[in-house]
Amino acid sequence: MDSLFSVPLKDGIVTSVDLSRSLDDLSETIVQYGQNVLCVADTNSARYLPSGVNHLVLPPGETEKQWQSIDRILSAALSYGMARDGVFIAVGGGVILDMTAFAASIYMRGARCVLVPTTLLSAVDATLGGKTGIDYGGGKNLVGTFYPAERVVIAPQTLLSLPEREYRCGLGEVVKHAFLSSDRTLFGFLEREHDAVLARSEEAMTEMIRLSLGVKISYITRDPEERKGIRSALNLGHTFGHALEAIRGFSISHGEGVAWGVGRAFDAGVAIGITDPGYAAQARSLMDLYGFDSTRCIVSDEFPAFSLAIGKDKKKKGGEVRFVLMAGQGEPVLMPLPDDAVRKAVVENG
Ligand SMILES: NC(=O)c1ccc[n+]([C@@H]2O[C@H](COP(=O)([O-])OP(=O)(O)OC[C@H]3O[C@@H](n4cnc5c(N)ncnc54)[C@H](O)[C@@H]3O)[C@@H](O)[C@H]2O)c1
Repeated sequence: MDSLFSVPLKDGIVTSVDLSRSLDDLSETIVQYGQNVLCVADTNSARYLPSGVNHLVLPPGETEKQWQSIDRILSAALSYGMARDGVFIAVGGGVILDMTAFAASIYMRGARCVLVPTTLLSAVDATLGGKTGIDYGGGKNLVGTFYPAERVVIAPQTLLSLPEREYRCGLGEVVKHAFLSSDRTLFGFLEREHDAVLARSEEAMTEMIRLSLGVKISYITRDPEERKGIRSALNLGHTFGHALEAIRGFSISHGEGVAWGVGRAFDAGVAIGITDPGYAAQARSLMDLYGFDSTRCIVSDEFPAFSLAIGKDKKKKGGEVRFVLMAGQGEPVLMPLPDDAVRKAVVENG
C-alpha cells in the first residue's frame, strides 16, 4: 500500500487514502483487519473479497439502495458478533459504499468504516466527504448521515472488470473535475493521455484518480458539511444532467448526463456573459475527445417536462434552483437561471 492523501474532515476526523499495488496487496490489506469485520460487496464486486473473511453479498443496482439492505448489513454484523470497534469494509461501487457507510454510522452508534471503491465513479466521487445513505420515498439519497470513512483504499486493478458504460460514467465525473480544478493539470493530463485512459492502463488510471481526488478534496475540505456553498460547485452539470436523465427515463447513464449537463452549463454561461467563450470552446473539445455528446438535444415538446424536472432538483436554495456555471478554469459561479436561458441552452434550435 502507498499513501496518497490524508484528508482532514468533520470534527478533526482524518480520512487516509491509500493506493493498492496489486490485487494481492488489496486482499492482504483487507485480511489484516482480522475477524472483527464485515465486508460488504455486491455480486459484481464480490470477486475482490479475499476468501475466509466475514462477508455479505447483496444484489447489485441502485434499486437495492434501500432500508432492507441496511437491515441485512446490520443483521450480518450482529450475527458475526461484530463489536463496536469492528470494521465495516465496503467493496464495491457507490451503492455499496453509501449503504455500508450508513450502516457503519448507526451500528452501535458508530462503528469503524473502510471504503474500497471498485467503480471509477465511486473512486473519484463517492469515497471522500462522508455522505452516506439510501434512497427513500422515491427520492435519491434522502435518508443518510455524514460519516467520513477512516480509510479509503483505491485499487485501480479492480476497474479492469468494469463494463465500458460504467467506466465512461466515471469519466464524466473526472472531466467535470478537470474544469473545477484551480489549475490545468488534470485537463492537460486527460488531453495528453487520452489513449492510455481509454485503454485503462493502470498507470494512467492511477494518475487520473489521484488528480481527480485532489480536486474533490480541495472543495470538500473548505466546506466539510456542505453548508457554505463551496462544495455545491461539485454539482456542475448535475442540474441539467439529472433533468435529462429524468425525462429520458434513466436510459442514459449518470455520467453521460453529467457530461451533457456540463456542456449545457458552458453554453448557458456564454449566452449570459458569465463564461469566457474561449475557455468554453476548449472545454467542449475535451468532452468531444472523450466522445461525450453535449449538444442541445431537447425537442421543444419535451421542454415543459424538462423544466419540471429541473424544478424538482433538490439543490434548491430558498425555493430557487441554483445552477453551477463556470466563468473560466476553476471558477464556478452559482446562480439561478431564467427559464428562457435554460430553454436556449437545451432545446434544439431553441
Ligand atoms: N457518497 C457520495 O459522496 C456519492 C457521490 C457520488 C455518487 N454516490 C452514489 O454512488 C452511486 C453510484 O455509484 P456507481 O456508479 O459506482 O454505481 P453502482 O454501485 O451501482 O455500480 C455500478 C455497477 O457496476 C458494478 N460493479 C461495481 N464494481 C465492479 C467491478 N469492479 N467490475 C464489474 N462490475 C462492477 C455494480 O455491481 C453495478 O452494477 C449512486 O447511488 C450515488 O448516489 C455517492
